Amino acid sequence: MPCFVTILVRTVADVLNCAPDEIIFTGCGSESDNLAVRGGALAAREQRGANHIVTTPIEHPAVLATARHLRDHFGFELTELPVDHEGRVNPDDVARALRPDTALVSVMYANNEIGTIQPITEIAAITRQAGVLLHTDAAQSTGKIAVDVNELGVDLLTLAGHKFYATKGVGVLYVRRGTPIAGVLAGAGQEHGLRPGTECVPLVVGLGVAAQLAGERLSQAQAHLLRMRDRLHALLQQNIPDIRLNGHPSERLPNTLHVSFPSVSGEELLRSAAADVAASVGSACHAGSHAVSGVLAALGLEPPVAAGAVRLSVGLPTTEDEIEHAAAALAAAWVRHTRKGR
Ligand SMILES: Cc1ncc(COP(=O)(O)O)c(C=O)c1O
Repeated sequence: MPCFVTILVRTVADVLNCAPDEIIFTGCGSESDNLAVRGGALAAREQRGANHIVTTPIEHPAVLATARHLRDHFGFELTELPVDHEGRVNPDDVARALRPDTALVSVMYANNEIGTIQPITEIAAITRQAGVLLHTDAAQSTGKIAVDVNELGVDLLTLAGHKFYATKGVGVLYVRRGTPIAGVLAGAGQEHGLRPGTECVPLVVGLGVAAQLAGERLSQAQAHLLRMRDRLHALLQQNIPDIRLNGHPSERLPNTLHVSFPSVSGEELLRSAAADVAASVGSACHAGSHAVSGVLAALGLEPPVAAGAVRLSVGLPTTEDEIEHAAAALAAAWVRHTRKGR
């Protein structure tokens, strides 16, 4: 790659606190997850006959569906660890799940629906002692919380460019030096032989610059996101007394506010506020029935609480006026719906 790209690879490496040769560029976060889980599991099987994968039911489908595919089509055994009501994995459960033939543990750093941050450092201490690979999906974390691979102690870590203001269509997989990992695509030797195909230089450059900015403005960004998110939460609480926060109250991404509105469907509420608020619900709708998302089901939310769930998020450009406007629109939509239901 051109030499200015080499400089940007170093920038990405600096943000993650790793060496440039531990950075693999991929086509997206999903590809990084696939490479980590599939490549890590297959290499461990080849090297030491490992046949067992540990993950959680709240992972992004790029991890969870990959792990389930390895179970269903490649004969791996799979343990999906429970999470508590706030979406946290208990490191003791990881320790109990490990077996002599465990190939890989994959636990996300922060969840994409509820924002809960996992105790990755504690989990890494356990996997490292057992000699098992640890992958974490940090797609949602970069630019919002520190992502330092050495502090975290992980062997494999996923980034998705568009989550920190790079373009869509570019991702990174951090691969700790010496980590056994098999490529999942056959081809030429680009990206240390792990991701064949000619790199798209403009996308890599964009990701490098975005990573540099994310690193430089992290504490400022965190403060802004927290201020906007907590203001939104406070305004909603003022107008909707029984609104309930989902996810962990403090171990949570600063941009994420996942709440359940009482006595309404989150989907209807958002439809009613669509002219003013762009947000998504925490549940998917299938054939007219409201199926609870896998994340909310894993938290054990009661059905009416899950039905009223809405995932609100703020970004760096979000202003205080927009927060006031959004809160007023959501509160008005809630009042309209609850009056209708009486
Ligand atoms: C936690 C998490 N992992 C992986 C991905 C996939 O990233 P991409 O859209 O770049 O494939 C996303 C994006 O939605 C995500 O939120």
